Amino acid sequence: MAAVGSAVGLGNIWGFPFRLGAGGGFAFLLVYLILVVFVGYVVMLGELTIGRKTGKSTVHAYVELSKKYKAIGFMGIVSGFCILAFYSVLGGYVMKYMFGFLMEMFRGDNFGGMSSGEYFDNFLGNVGQGTLWFVVFQAITILIVMGGVAGGIEKFCKIAMPALVVMLVIVIIRSVTLPGATEGLAFMFKPDFSKLATFSDFMGVLRSAAGQMFFSLSLGMGCMITYGSYLSKKESLQFNAMFIPIADTTIAILAGMAVMPAVFALGFEPGRGPGLLFVTLHGVFMSMGGFIGPFFGFFFYLLVTIAAVTSSISLLEVCASYVIDKRIIEGKEPNRRKYTIMIGAAIFVVGLPISLDGLGAGIMPALPESLGWVWLELYDFIAEGVLMPLGALFMSLIVGWVMKKSFGEEVRLEGNKFGTESFVMICAKYITPIAMTFILVTQVMDFFGM
Ligand code: PFF
Repeated sequence: MAAVGSAVGLGNIWGFPFRLGAGGGFAFLLVYLILVVFVGYVVMLGELTIGRKTGKSTVHAYVELSKKYKAIGFMGIVSGFCILAFYSVLGGYVMKYMFGFLMEMFRGDNFGGMSSGEYFDNFLGNVGQGTLWFVVFQAITILIVMGGVAGGIEKFCKIAMPALVVMLVIVIIRSVTLPGATEGLAFMFKPDFSKLATFSDFMGVLRSAAGQMFFSLSLGMGCMITYGSYLSKKESLQFNAMFIPIADTTIAILAGMAVMPAVFALGFEPGRGPGLLFVTLHGVFMSMGGFIGPFFGFFFYLLVTIAAVTSSISLLEVCASYVIDKRIIEGKEPNRRKYTIMIGAAIFVVGLPISLDGLGAGIMPALPESLGWVWLELYDFIAEGVLMPLGALFMSLIVGWVMKKSFGEEVRLEGNKFGTESFVMICAKYITPIAMTFILVTQVMDFFGM
């Protein structure tokens, strides 16, 4: 459940719908689901197993397998830094919306008469306010990790996650009953292969779906190695590696069904990019009218904030646990508080350009036009686009070609079943490495405009 708490977050609610919109709906969904089965499941099982076998967090787990693998662990920490930097900025936006709907419940002035788009643009342009919410979100993450109360949060999560599902269902009902909404459902579920017609279209969708999958399942950066290290030997790794992706993907699809019908019904552009969730759902809640709209809006964003925090603490934990474990191994006082604050503060500095950029509406200089990105997308590219596929590539090679039989032995401990062993080994040896190499090569070619 703790791992589900890490996996379910902004990746599902914010990332999945906007990438689904940009990736042509059905085409993206299809490629995403295939990737979850052939890559996600395998990498999830690989990370959980390496974690449980070594009993260590990312870097130290790889070192335990072999000193040569240390760099793979470090890549995970860099990914964690990049992701948490933009994650906290977005978490701040979610909190701003939560607060906005709370105010609206009492004021009831239709957000000062502003449309969804105007309200969002107005907020983004106000980088001081965006940065303030970024600080608030980051501070909450630091305080929880510092206090080591993450266990308490996970208990809380057992109520918040089902509540989030109920809330998503309420939003879906409202969204699909808006006039013109069926087009959005058709966009998601009606087979349409035109977006995959050429090789370059296909690679574009594959890259975006793969990045989204790593991000959403918290894979490719060793986060699940840390969670695996807490699993008891009795626990079935195979079951966990199936359950986490199924729960995560279900919530992502629900979020897609909440957003996409409304995108079409309210006349937004599905490929609008990272602002899609905020603008669209604002429209959905306001269409509920009166007090009830802002009321649901407030609860929805409260639950999304909780989901985001249970993910952001795992991101900070990946970075902080490296330093803390290192000190324990060196026989020094771990000093959890001090190192968590220091790392959290460093991530704040790294994230500042993203918050000052305000998804392109702020005061940061624009990135080269050839890239066509806002600053958030640059960080996203470094982590999801390069480091995570690279991490998954190395990890599957280790599982398939180095650990081989000893991998299966760990999974089968205490009489646990491993019926998918041949499938996992074929994927780890060939399918995942080939898919990741393709993704990385075309990613680099695309970046350099080749
Ligand atoms: N999986 C989280 C989400 O979907 O929001 C984000 C995340 C958490 C990514 C932890 C990576 C990670 F290690």
